[in-house]
Amino acid sequence: MQRIRVGFIGLGHNGLAHIAAHSRSPLSEVVAVCDYSPEKTAAAAEKFGAPRQYHDYSILERDDIDAISIHTPDHLHAEPFVLALEAGKHVFVEKPMGNSIEDLNRMVDAAKRHPRQKTMVGHILRFNPVFARVKQLVQEGALGDLFYMECDYVHNLRFQGDAPRFDPNIGMNWYLEKEIPMVGGGGHPFDLLKWFAGEPAVEVTGFSNRKAFPQMVNDDCQVCLFRFASGAIAKVAVSYGCVAPYAFLNNLIVYGTKGTVNRNTICLKAHPEAYRALRVEPPSGHPYEPEVEDFLTAIIENRPTLIDAFDGANSAAAVIRGAQAASEGKPLPIPRYER
Ligand SMILES: NC(=O)c1ccc[n+]([C@@H]2O[C@H](COP(=O)([O-])OP(=O)(O)OC[C@H]3O[C@@H](n4cnc5c(N)ncnc54)[C@H](O)[C@@H]3O)[C@@H](O)[C@H]2O)c1
Repeated sequence: MQRIRVGFIGLGHNGLAHIAAHSRSPLSEVVAVCDYSPEKTAAAAEKFGAPRQYHDYSILERDDIDAISIHTPDHLHAEPFVLALEAGKHVFVEKPMGNSIEDLNRMVDAAKRHPRQKTMVGHILRFNPVFARVKQLVQEGALGDLFYMECDYVHNLRFQGDAPRFDPNIGMNWYLEKEIPMVGGGGHPFDLLKWFAGEPAVEVTGFSNRKAFPQMVNDDCQVCLFRFASGAIAKVAVSYGCVAPYAFLNNLIVYGTKGTVNRNTICLKAHPEAYRALRVEPPSGHPYEPEVEDFLTAIIENRPTLIDAFDGANSAAAVIRGAQAASEGKPLPIPRYER
């Protein structure tokens, strides 16, 4: 069986979760790890048996690496993504693909220059079997014409302000200083709703405040309304500081002319009095394995990944403009990226 030889950049919680998923896959070989921190590379190399450790982008010079997996902070995705493509690698990058339009433009330009290399953006909710079932129902026409959808990212993430989160290697706590909640968190539910709509959004408006987690530089509560060309409307609410239990299935509701999905239940026109179970179980944690497998098999079979750079850029651009619309208090058009 062919194994894709993979190098990893960024060894925080998320990078390590990905290496663990790769190390369990028969399609992957963990070749090298890269982080500014020598302690982190040493620990990962020992735990996962990675033969090589790097502390800068010279990891990209290795000929025995087929693919690079990028897990740096949100505002530090663009440079390794572009350099990895220029070095001839396939590239997986965590969501959000970037957290500025300028970064997305650079990344999309690089993807256009290297069309034979696979790109993938880590919108992991698409691999949750409940959300995948909703997508299937939409594609089969079971819900009819979608007209309104809601999906949220509401968590208590105030621990991200704790002192140990300060990263001396980048000179900041990036969660407080650089993360944009509608982009980092809201990008998850928005990407799902865009996937269901089957098209990028064209316009966004919103409101925001910073009452619950005032240590954040950007507003921690951001609520946006997106409009699609079809006329469908989507609402995404984000809070990083709320007092609440886990929002089951991101509070998903999808309204179509023939039916409504509410979390993992469905109500169809034939039985408008009741919601019935979708009979699909949500996973207990993040479904890293199927996400990693999609990236690896796309390379092996030379087929598109589920979320390539253009798709990922359209998701990120909408939420970046959403956060901007909320802070400026006016609706904004959303740029669109074409393959
Ligand atoms: N898909 C998901 O569900 C999910 C979940 C968590 C985090 N994420 C995303 O994963 C990314 C990483 O998040 P995290 O919580 O692991 O962050 P983190 O701050 O814990 O880890 C980032 C690591 O990257 C390293 N780093 C930064 N710049 C580097 C560079 N240029 N070269 C080498 N190393 C560098 C830092 O030293 C640090 O170890 C973020 O984009 C985040 O939004 C996605």
